Parts: sequence; C-alpha cells; structure tokens
Amino acid sequence: MMKANLAYAGTQEALDAVNADDASVSHHSEFFFDLQQGLARQHKSISPKYFYDAPGSALFDQICTLPEYYPTRTELSILQRHALEIAHQLGPHAEILEFGAGSMQKVRVLLDVMDRPARYVPIDISGEHTQEAALTMANAYPHLQVEPLIADYTQDLVLPPDMPPDGRRVGFFPGSTLGNFEPLDALRFMRMCARTLQGGALILGADLVKNPDLLHAAYNDAQGVTADFNRNVLVRANRELGADFQLAQFAHSAFYNAPLQRIEMHLMSTCQQVVHIGGKPFAFAQGETLHTENSYKFTPDGLHQLAQRAGFTPGQVWTDPENKFCLLWLNAPTYRSHT
Ligand SMILES: C[S@@+](CC[C@H](N)C(=O)[O-])C[C@H]1O[C@@H](n2cnc3c(N)ncnc32)[C@H](O)[C@@H]1O
Repeated sequence: MMKANLAYAGTQEALDAVNADDASVSHHSEFFFDLQQGLARQHKSISPKYFYDAPGSALFDQICTLPEYYPTRTELSILQRHALEIAHQLGPHAEILEFGAGSMQKVRVLLDVMDRPARYVPIDISGEHTQEAALTMANAYPHLQVEPLIADYTQDLVLPPDMPPDGRRVGFFPGSTLGNFEPLDALRFMRMCARTLQGGALILGADLVKNPDLLHAAYNDAQGVTADFNRNVLVRANRELGADFQLAQFAHSAFYNAPLQRIEMHLMSTCQQVVHIGGKPFAFAQGETLHTENSYKFTPDGLHQLAQRAGFTPGQVWTDPENKFCLLWLNAPTYRSHT
C-alpha cells in the first residue's frame, strides 16, 4: 500500500533542485546558488547531496556492489546476524523513518522479521529514484503503509502526521551517511532526529576508523564507478544549470585524511581552465580541486558521545568480526531533546 504523499521540505528553490530531473536549465535553483557560492570560495566545494539525481543514485547502487566497497555488504551482514534481536526491540506495529533511504534494500532485512510493521517512511532527496524504490517496496510488502517523503533532511521535515497508536517510531540511518556531515552539522542532524523520534529510537549505521589502505581502495575502485559518481555533479550542473564543465579535464581524487579521520573526495582540474555557470566565469588553476565529499570515519565511543550530546541514550552496539562497521541502537529522549 503506497500513499502518494509527496511532501517537500524547504523553499521553492529547494524543490526545484530536488525535482530537477526534468532537465530544464534553472538559474534559480538551490543547486545553482550553492554551486556559484561554492566555486567562489578560496577552497572550492559543493555539498555531496548534489550527487543524487536519478543517474547519481543508480551509480551509488553500483558502488554498493563493488568488491572494494566493503561498507554495504558489511552493514548488511551485521543487520542479518542481529535482525531478530533488533526486531524484538522495535516491537509490534512500529513505524520506520529511514533517512537517506536510497534503494531501500537494508530495511528489508528488518521488515522481513518485524512484528506487523505499521508504516515505512523513506526520506530521500533523489526524487525519481525514491518514487521507484518506494513503489517496489509497496509491491513487495502489500500490508505495509509506504509513504515516501522526497525532501532534504537538513531542512525542516514535514512528516506524515498520524503516528501509529500502539507502536514506536524508530529512525533508521544506515550507510554511514552521517559521515558526510561536518561534525557540527552531524550534531545538528542528530538533534533533529532526537526531536522527531521522541519516545522511540534511532538505528544508526556507521563506518569505523580502520587501515587507510582499505579505505583508499573503497573510494578508488578499479572499474572507475566512484569516479563516475564523483563527476556526476558536473554532469548534473551541465544539464540542469547550463554549465560548461569539460568532464575529461576533471580527475577523480579520493584520499584518507588521517588527522581528520575522513575520506575526502575531490575533482581535480587537470589544466588551467575557466568554467561558466549562468554566464559567470570561475577559474581553475591546474591541480586545483572542487571538494565534493567528506566521509568521516568513527569509533563507537565517539558516536556515543555525539548521540548523548544530541539527547539520545546509547543502547546496543553491533559490529562485524573485523570491526569494520557498526550499528548502534540509540534511545531517543522521551520529552524535550537537548538544544
Ligand atoms: C550514501 S547513500 C546511502 C543510501 C542507503 N541508505 C544505503 O545505506 O545504502 C546516501 C543517501 O542519502 C540521500 N541523501 C543525501 N543527502 C541528502 C539530504 N540532504 N536529504 C535527503 N536525502 C539525502 C541520497 O540520495 C542517498 O540515497
């Protein structure tokens, strides 16, 4: 059962950006303003949320199947091993809100063993991809209410109103997407979750600090799929904003920044060049980069400290035998969260 509940967060500009799969060139979208602003900085940067249009989401799905990309299969194995225990904690008639739901594969492991789940609300910025995945879910789970919410979860979310009367509202945030936030933004996001999930819980999946060689390989796959994913932000800017990025002149660069415990992803200009967006020129020196993503790595203790600062009470920690990835159960505050 799928409700055609397309709620959007933010301004009309944000909506334009979210729905820009219609390929019309827009000089008024949030993407346009963010990219112009990002390219004007001394260290050029753009939010990773702009990777995710329909082709970007499809590329991310491909990344998840790559031999070098251990996070997806590792997190899935943890979920599978502990699914019954997690389902028991979720209890009957629970509602799952999934933040950054993507293709909605991981939540299936839980839904398959949960006691009469009441509702599934996948929240994602990638409009077309989310609609399709939600439809697949509604067909696969005919008794489940599936209500996709196409929205930017860093802005105010308008959630479906009627809470399940006798079940818990539990958030699910897998894929270590938390690592794409700067530390302060991660705290802000966790506080939003604590407010939203009052009386319920959050199941958080996060990638752990580990041997840099493994990390490096995961973001530099032999087939170049991650490189294509990285360049998709330029493809999207050319199509949606009428920009003139020469794709062949931007090289994928991903490396582990050990002091900051994060993978950094950049697009490096291979020559001196000028790119135009909305008629405005932006010069790149040879070797200069556009910083496209950070992927912070965590420790369970560090995650617990973050969660507690946001008002959660830590519960179970599940990891794989090699401690590559972890899944945390975090109890949301019952009343007001810390602000
Ligand atoms: C790293 S992928 C993880 C996908 C999936 N949860 C998984 O574990 O495989 C991040 C997902 O979050 C979504 N996303 C990224 N930034 C977002 C934002 N600001 N608001 C809503 N969704 C966002 C992307 O579209 C994408 O589906």
